[in-house]
Amino acid sequence: MFPQIRMRRIRRRFIRPLLNETRIAKTDLIAPLFFDETATSPVAIPSMPGVVRYPPSMAGEVCTNLASRGIRAVLLFGVPREKDEAASGAFADDGVIQQTVRAIKTAVPEMVVITDLCACEYTSHGHCGVIGDCKDGVDLKNDQSLALMQEIAVSHAAAGADIIAPSCMLDGMVTALRSALDENGYEEIPIMSYSSKFSSSLYGPFRDAAGSGYSFGDRTTYQAPVGNRREALRESELDAAEGADILMVKPAGWCGDIISDVASIGLPVAVYQVSGEYAMIKAAAMNGWLDEKRVVMESLISLRRAGADLIITYFAESVCRWIDEEQ
Ligand code: PBG
Ligand code: ZN
Repeated sequence: MFPQIRMRRIRRRFIRPLLNETRIAKTDLIAPLFFDETATSPVAIPSMPGVVRYPPSMAGEVCTNLASRGIRAVLLFGVPREKDEAASGAFADDGVIQQTVRAIKTAVPEMVVITDLCACEYTSHGHCGVIGDCKDGVDLKNDQSLALMQEIAVSHAAAGADIIAPSCMLDGMVTALRSALDENGYEEIPIMSYSSKFSSSLYGPFRDAAGSGYSFGDRTTYQAPVGNRREALRESELDAAEGADILMVKPAGWCGDIISDVASIGLPVAVYQVSGEYAMIKAAAMNGWLDEKRVVMESLISLRRAGADLIITYFAESVCRWIDEEQ
């Protein structure tokens, strides 16, 4: 018998658009931004064409422009003038992030300012917290680093951050941050935890952009092994149990399975299309090998299809422009 079921019936030209299961809206997007205390004008990042480090003095102007495009949320990274063992630049009152947050909240109060909470841009050794002697040699000291993260989180909240996003993959991080924020009167500030973060090769361009490469060792004793699906889910389940408000999977593009697993927990899920993903797409597009707009939109649709609510992407502003052009 000739097929009674024909999938192509619903793909007819004018019917197909009615049946879109997955869409990208501007409200799904979070734009990552780099602010560099030593910059006096935007500094290009060679491995991330089109992305720059801004001086903090430009923060208001940059976010005003993004808001006019339709961007509702930004994720901030800071490059301090000086680094030290204690990451003092990370929690200083007039630190690069603290200045930047204040400038943005003054210029565009409705912009949701999310701050990445980590020490690797601020430590002289480039690790994500306090280092010291551990069982197998010098490594990240978990509980001492938690105390540092508490101090940084409170300083971000005091500067006016709307959401705190810890990315250091320490154990007990969400519990520690929730109690520090609450004790200081910031019980309204949500925690967006980088909960399932893999030790990925795709962060290379970011480490150039943020100057956060490490001087010895690597991040494998804190970030999760790429091959371990159950372990990645457990990381997010733990953060959910500790009171995280939003979970995150990173890197996004190679983690459809993890995004789907984490979405089943029931909390909102953010995913991070990281610097290496951006660099790969951009390089191919610049060579004329791929169609940038189509590839980017497909990549974002596939993340939403896997279960992502929010997408952090360096393409955020371009996507807003493409959405405007369609209308
Ligand atoms: C800081 C941090 C990193 C990224 C986000 N926060 C780098 C790292 O873990 O080494 C990567 C983002 C990107 O590659 O775009 N811990
Ligand atoms: Zn870090």
